[in-house]
Amino acid sequence: MILPFAESYKIKMVEPIRRSTPKEREAWIREAGYNLFNLRSDQVFIDLLTDSGTGAMSDRQWSALMLGDESYAGASSYFKMKEAVREITGFEYFLPTHQGRAAENVLFSVLFKEGHIIPGNAHFDTTKGHIEYRKAFAVDCTIDEAYDTTLYHPFKGNINLAKLEEVLSSNPKEKIPAIIVTVTCNTSGGQPVSMENLRHTYALAQKYSIPVIFDSARFAENAYFIKEREKGYENHSIREIVREMFSYADMMTMSSKKDAIVNMGGFIAMRSEDIFRQASVFNIMFEGYITYGGMSGRDMNALAQGLYEGTEYDYLNTRIGQVGYLGTKLKSFGVPVQEPFGGHAIFVDAKKFLPHIPVEEFQAQTLAVELYIEGGVRGVEIGTILADRDPVTRENRYPRLEFLRLAIPRRVYTNNHMDYVAVALGNVFARREQITQGFRIVYEAPIMRHFTVKLERA
Ligand SMILES: Cc1ncc(COP(=O)(O)O)c(C=O)c1O
Repeated sequence: MILPFAESYKIKMVEPIRRSTPKEREAWIREAGYNLFNLRSDQVFIDLLTDSGTGAMSDRQWSALMLGDESYAGASSYFKMKEAVREITGFEYFLPTHQGRAAENVLFSVLFKEGHIIPGNAHFDTTKGHIEYRKAFAVDCTIDEAYDTTLYHPFKGNINLAKLEEVLSSNPKEKIPAIIVTVTCNTSGGQPVSMENLRHTYALAQKYSIPVIFDSARFAENAYFIKEREKGYENHSIREIVREMFSYADMMTMSSKKDAIVNMGGFIAMRSEDIFRQASVFNIMFEGYITYGGMSGRDMNALAQGLYEGTEYDYLNTRIGQVGYLGTKLKSFGVPVQEPFGGHAIFVDAKKFLPHIPVEEFQAQTLAVELYIEGGVRGVEIGTILADRDPVTRENRYPRLEFLRLAIPRRVYTNNHMDYVAVALGNVFARREQITQGFRIVYEAPIMRHFTVKLERA
């Protein structure tokens, strides 16, 4: 017999989680203004709100923590992290930041000004937020296939090169300070970008002398998909693939809370000494001195170790295998999900799940609330609430897809938890026709409203 799958780690420490009743959950979510971000974590049984900063560190990471050097300047932990970043990405210059959006804030302070246009593949919300806050524009050039959840395409994070060239050729060069490629593309469903697409995007960028930034939160998961799906890479190691990926970028921002498997941390890395110098000034202003940038020495140590672990094949195989396990279970109950399954999450197609709820009543949010009440499982809306209002017209933006995202924390839950989640959502699917009411907004912030929005039943 072929030996079955088994996780590439064993468990050394556990954390109790608490079940609750649907009645308790109904009351809690009402008090939370039907916003799952407002729940207390002990009101949640299985927390799939995000894979960001929610992973379980390894014994090696915890021991690296004990060796942290907390010197203000020139700490050995900084050099350990710098070396890991250089070895894995190939970038010589680097600045630590406290998380991914801080990396964006520092780098974009150097590069982006009012009126600029920044094309890319479905920019992540904080990325878009930092662009729009500077009165610049994010232009989505993702391939159209990404917006058909049932269509199989191995690299739904790819950039449509014709769309990109249209943007590059129809605007003056000074208006486009960079192209941002998000690997994997969170917004389109944790979908990877192929090496071929990265190569061509970079060639196009060079033709127009425009730098490329990778939003790299899940670069290792992207590399895993390249190894599994792209011809010619099956015998390459993950680290070799990662090095080639970064050879098609000039700079990167990183939320280390994902593929570096730490609870907090981020960085910027680049080839240009000049941009490094300019970014250093903003890093000192916003984050901290250039050798700690908002991170403690111990956290830099754990991050360096996490970068090595996050780029191991066995780990990635276990991690992405578990996401696929949940996706396959959900499909067996008829639940419509984005396919192929993404790297960090299963994206449930709320438009197909609840077609009778009007988009104005937030289909994906409605589904997220129902799943929470059903089983105490917390997912997150990636739909109209997240898409926010148009910064100019202030009208709601209705994205082409309404997703409920079930993001799987790294090395945290077992497949029994995945079975539980699948049955809970399967139960909601079975009673979907009785769900007839969505939500309306009673409070929203002027930007990034999804974190603090308050809702009532429509
Ligand atoms: C693709 C991507 N970029 C940037 C960020 C922002 O990172 P952070 O949450 O560390 O600020 C995230 C967070 O989820 C992300 O998924």
